[in-house]
Amino acid sequence: MTKIFKGRDIISIHDFSREEIEHILKVSKDMIPAARGEKGNLSLKGKILSTIFFEPSTRTRLSFEAAMSRLGGSVVGFSDPEITSLKKGETLADTIRMVESYSDVIVLRHPMEGAAKLAADFTEKPVINAGDGAGQHPTQTLLDLFTIWTEKKDIEDKNVVLLGDLKYGRTVHSLAYALAMFGANLTFVAPEVLQMPKEVVEHVERQGGSYTSTNALEDAIESADVLYVTRIQKERFPDPAEYEKVAGMYRVDNEILTNASKDMIVMHPLPRVTEISPEVDTTEHAIYFKQAFNGVPVRMALLALIFDVVK
Ligand code: CP
Repeated sequence: MTKIFKGRDIISIHDFSREEIEHILKVSKDMIPAARGEKGNLSLKGKILSTIFFEPSTRTRLSFEAAMSRLGGSVVGFSDPEITSLKKGETLADTIRMVESYSDVIVLRHPMEGAAKLAADFTEKPVINAGDGAGQHPTQTLLDLFTIWTEKKDIEDKNVVLLGDLKYGRTVHSLAYALAMFGANLTFVAPEVLQMPKEVVEHVERQGGSYTSTNALEDAIESADVLYVTRIQKERFPDPAEYEKVAGMYRVDNEILTNASKDMIVMHPLPRVTEISPEVDTTEHAIYFKQAFNGVPVRMALLALIFDVVK
């Protein structure tokens, strides 16, 4: 099994079979003590990870850096392309050629869909997609699956409500694909203009996945095991006036949660703005900060598998 991961690019959730994802989840669970700093693990000592981020990030970049550090490796990179030679007109391809000579694995976030695949074509080093525009964010999907699996004990047959910006939200695209693969039941809740894109729905259908679409959150959460909330992403709207029409349309608060079962979990890839009221943070439903921590063991597992230091 380990050989399958060695030296591999991680561009899309479609790169993985269900069996491979299950293996990643198990390795991630084993990484938790080291991710918390309770157990030493220096298996990537001497290896260098580069994080090259052309878009803002808090969780993805820092959790990759924490993951590499917890495994004894080191990190180089940038989070502000304005202070690099890109400012002088250097191309992404040339940037990748440089970065590959300074590091052993490259983590890339870029606003252009397809950028991670393009980067992977210019280097022999493994490239990990940390989000490419409205495309995919596969390591977020893996940590989301890990969170559902650890909190709900299984993924198959769970009722998962995906709420918010389903059109532009890359995390929900990758997650919908993966949840369909695992046999979860999906409900898409969004205003009409932000509903799940046709190609994602068709993919779910091809996998025999069960789904419904609605804009009635109150009804959808009654039978939900998981409510996955997303931010309506102002920065992805071509027309600001269109954003204003849907901004603030959904807000998860304690009142709406009275419709939910007491063990329904609320997830969010973060950052949140107004879509989850802070009063929810102290309820048993709120899992989103734990979900953000889960990025560390999951990314440790991926790095350890790519470098073939774990079975
Ligand atoms: N969830 C996520 O991708 O967060 P960041 O944008 O902060 O990396």
